[in-house]
Amino acid sequence: MKEKLMRLQAELEEKLSRAATPDAVEELRVRYLGKKGQLTDILHSMGSLSPEERPVIGELANRVRGAITEAINQKKASFERALRQKKLEAETLDITAPSEQIPEGGRHPIALVQEEIERIFISMGFTVEDGPEIETDHYNFTALNTPADHPARDTQDTFYITDDVLLRTQTSPVQIRVMEKTRPPIRMICPGRVYRSDAVDATHSPMFHQIEGLVVDRGITMGDLKGTLDLFAQKMFGAQTKTRFRPHHFPFTEPSAEVDVSCFVCGGDGCSLCKKEGWIEILGAGMVHPNVLRGCGLDPEVYTGFAFGLGLERIVMARYGVNDMRYLYENDVRFLRQFA
Ligand code: DAH
Repeated sequence: MKEKLMRLQAELEEKLSRAATPDAVEELRVRYLGKKGQLTDILHSMGSLSPEERPVIGELANRVRGAITEAINQKKASFERALRQKKLEAETLDITAPSEQIPEGGRHPIALVQEEIERIFISMGFTVEDGPEIETDHYNFTALNTPADHPARDTQDTFYITDDVLLRTQTSPVQIRVMEKTRPPIRMICPGRVYRSDAVDATHSPMFHQIEGLVVDRGITMGDLKGTLDLFAQKMFGAQTKTRFRPHHFPFTEPSAEVDVSCFVCGGDGCSLCKKEGWIEILGAGMVHPNVLRGCGLDPEVYTGFAFGLGLERIVMARYGVNDMRYLYENDVRFLRQFA
């Protein structure tokens, strides 16, 4: 019986060494260790042994079973290792390989300047508001003290969707929307697109950008307007910058002014940027007209305010020396890349 056991172990080890697949190993396990396996058979026949032999053979049988189990487990493990290795090799990732080139975008110059202006006004306590580009006649004109027969409408022709609905010609309607929904104190700017029936040339586009400003509170004066715009001009164009107010007319402000800043290239001496003027016009402004306040349910005897509207493209062009507005909309990457 001792020989039988030893032979069994040797036989298994030999077969195991030739087993080529996990299935073959499993088959051997069943054949040798299973319920109807060869080792079990041998153990069943132990009853025929003498009482002296039984513990000796029993111990040997246990050792053989241990050895066989161990050999089978090792063989199984070696298959698993090989499989994992193969999988790892198949899945290797060369993290040093050059990657696919993903073109990197940049901010558009209009967005850059818009954000710069937003930051300046936010630092002065202004909120940044938004309004619809498709407006009603009421908000775009009438509520801004510009009734249907007002000649100022002629300078702001636009695309009408219906008799009453149009692409806004200015960001000023946002003044009305903000005054209707918020009580003073109001300190807001509103950047956005506006539309006019203008032919495209170096300084005109049927779509362009404005930034509206509105401050309404008790006791707001023209001095507040001048102080605010002076500070803005200094932060935007440099500490030496001066402003100049020229009398003008807008229907929704009284008094109204056009505002220039001293040329930030020549400092006012005259150069090609300012066309030898020494000044660059940047915005329109004024004290909010009492009719406008009244229309929004604000008593002009209690509240006063100032407003301004600034053309963004003009500032972008002056700031970066762009001499043709069309560059801003043509999306030529050779142009845009310069701002990335
Ligand atoms: N909305 C005017 C325009 O497009 C610009 C403007 C002028 C806005 C004076 C204002 C203002 O708020 O007070 O021509």
